[in-house]
Amino acid sequence: MTTNQEIILSASDVEVQFTVRGKQLRAIRNISIDLYKDETLAIVGESGSGKSVFTKTFTGMLESNGKVTNGTAMFEGKDLYANKTDTDWEAIRGKKIATIFQDPMTSLNPIIPIGKQITEVIEKHQGKSFAEAKEEAIKLMEEVGIYNAKGRFDEYPFMYSGGMRQRIVIAIALACHPDILICDEPTTALDVTIQAQIIRLIKKLQKQYGYTIIFITHDLGVVANVADRVAIMYSGQIIEYGTVNEIFYEPKHPYTWGLLSSLPQLGIKGEPLYAIHGTPPSLYDEIKGDAFAPRSDYAMEIDFEEEPPMFKVTDTHYAKTWLLDPRAPKVEPPAQVSSLHERMKQVIAEQEEH
Ligand SMILES: Nc1ncnc2c1ncn2[C@@H]1O[C@H](COP(=O)(O)OP(=O)(O)O)[C@@H](O)[C@H]1O
Ligand SMILES: [Mg+2]
Repeated sequence: MTTNQEIILSASDVEVQFTVRGKQLRAIRNISIDLYKDETLAIVGESGSGKSVFTKTFTGMLESNGKVTNGTAMFEGKDLYANKTDTDWEAIRGKKIATIFQDPMTSLNPIIPIGKQITEVIEKHQGKSFAEAKEEAIKLMEEVGIYNAKGRFDEYPFMYSGGMRQRIVIAIALACHPDILICDEPTTALDVTIQAQIIRLIKKLQKQYGYTIIFITHDLGVVANVADRVAIMYSGQIIEYGTVNEIFYEPKHPYTWGLLSSLPQLGIKGEPLYAIHGTPPSLYDEIKGDAFAPRSDYAMEIDFEEEPPMFKVTDTHYAKTWLLDPRAPKVEPPAQVSSLHERMKQVIAEQEEH
């Protein structure tokens, strides 16, 4: 856990709506969270929970049918949401807040050589000459682990493997020395060994370049290795957040329990892996109470009636579940979750061997 408590980005009451065929969909429902300088915050949740949409609001990258309909995101003393046009966003996007997406091809141009794409960014953002920029581009390629960077400078993206392409995207992101690096499932499309390498690279470069990371993943298993803190998202809300240890070993929300119980890394050979039953609610409808209640084995009457507040567990740990209300009955998390501490130690030891 980083000791630095300086807030670099502060999001409050953020709401995002999309218009789809004349109907409103509430994709983000009042999220508030601070991001601390130099930390790595993991955002975890099922597909469709709003991880990408929430973080896209920080760079003005929502699709044109989407809009921030409430809230603020304070960064360097200004509300990011005051930026409206692409010109407004130019000073932020890529430059101060950069994003690495799951598919490196969304960020690369297939018909321009790799080296040229990096060089162009350096020329544009740092105002360097072509020769200087090229030199720096090659240095960056070496730093992200491209072997024979000079020789591969003029190759096209299709000549690189998926893992190598993702390294190039990281190089391009770093070319602008961003303050915040949003990694949106950067390793989901890669195989496990490459995934571990890319994560290690992002962490290594963080020490060198000093950026703050938001690391998005649907896989809680990746988190232990990357993050200082974790925020769990469900149906457009952050329903729990805390330090990695708090989320793994003292989780409070039944959804977090479900996610932890279904960790593939913790499965026992020959036994079916736990899966959370049911599906999340439609975001077109008004959601009453705790959005997870219909799928929860621990739901109480009030969970179907009234939305729970964020209860404080510790100074760093908060959870949005009525189970934390003083009037709620004492409920123990499922056995898989209680025994997590011992089993996680094994998993981390195994991952470090890779
Ligand atoms: N352009 C869009 N138009 C309509 N709905 C969208 C659009 N983009 C995202 N959504 C919806 O917003 C919700 C959150 O999506 P997203 O942030 O991409 O989820 P995640 O990244 O957690 O998988 C989903 O229900 C998704 O269908
Ligand atoms: Mg996503």
